[in-house]
Amino acid sequence: MKVFCYSLKPFERPIMVQANHCKHELIFNEQSLSLDSAVLAEGCEAVSIFSNDDASGEVLKALHKLGVSYVALRSAGYNHVDLTTARRLNMRVANVPAYSPNAIAEHAVALLLALNRRIVESQWLMQMQDFRLDTLTGFNIHGKTVGIIGTGQIGMAFAKIMHGFGTHLLGFDPQQNPQAATIGLTYVGLEELLRQSDIISIHCPLNEHTQYMIDEPQFVLMKEGVYIVNTARGGIVRTSALIRHLAAGKVGGACLDVYERERGLFFFDHRHTILQDEEFIRLRSFKNVLITGHQGFLTAEALRNIADTTIKNLDAWERQGRSPNDLTD
Ligand code: NAI
Repeated sequence: MKVFCYSLKPFERPIMVQANHCKHELIFNEQSLSLDSAVLAEGCEAVSIFSNDDASGEVLKALHKLGVSYVALRSAGYNHVDLTTARRLNMRVANVPAYSPNAIAEHAVALLLALNRRIVESQWLMQMQDFRLDTLTGFNIHGKTVGIIGTGQIGMAFAKIMHGFGTHLLGFDPQQNPQAATIGLTYVGLEELLRQSDIISIHCPLNEHTQYMIDEPQFVLMKEGVYIVNTARGGIVRTSALIRHLAAGKVGGACLDVYERERGLFFFDHRHTILQDEEFIRLRSFKNVLITGHQGFLTAEALRNIADTTIKNLDAWERQGRSPNDLTD
């Protein structure tokens, strides 16, 4: 199959080449998929895209006109794909589910520990040979109440690590995970989770039900000094509300791997541009906010699994026209 791979960074290339075993004709490009760049896929049966590519209805229609029938996501999340339009056009879309839940869960924990224990700040001070401890007090995670929104693959991996830290675990999810009982995770309503948790970690998908699920009224319910961890999708938290509650001192810390307007920002070199997104600039101005640029997935194991499953999806489409990971069935 001839496949145009959008948003494919140089570090992914050798891993994709190895997974492919010369089976498919892969064309690698660092450009994101958009209405303008869709034309690059002319002559290809499939495209492969990542989480910040634009696979809205208009873009899918443009791809379809060019002869593209398959969209192989190199991500688990698919909030950026208009599946209704894909189904109408009879295009197949498959994702890479659960390629490495621990990669993202461990990153969430890394952010939480780094912010709470002032690791970044202590390194700046260390570099300046300022060895005072005055600004570096954190808190024990042990004994805290951790609320997990979305207890699927990643949420449960995070919960298990937090269980090891000796925390009380609360969960909110319309679908309860049978593993919850084994680590003492108690399911409660969202309101109760927000009221009781010292740390809230978000692990649900972004969709029409979860967009701005954490907004002004939800922040009002939270404990003073609450830590928010979001490694899921930026659009689940209303950034303006988060900023208001950081500025008011209600939110004690925010650990973010995602941002609601990250498309076009994360994954690119903006060193020589003046950022125009005032909310992002404001977020970065808080000492108690730690942001990484959507790198939760970035482990060697996860990259290998993403490449392997992407190629398996292409193999399955080539052989029988459908893949076990199809989202369009
Ligand atoms: P999953 O499908 O295993 O789990 C998602 C869970 O969220 C399910 O249990 C589901 O029932 C629950 N859920 C759905 N609607 C909900 C709601 N309204 N309230 C509470 N829970 C709800 O998915 P997985 O693999 O755990 O991934 C979760 C999300 O993590 C993905 O959708 C993606 O957006 C994000 N992600 C982020 C990455 C990163 O690099 N930062 C990498 C991979 C995924």
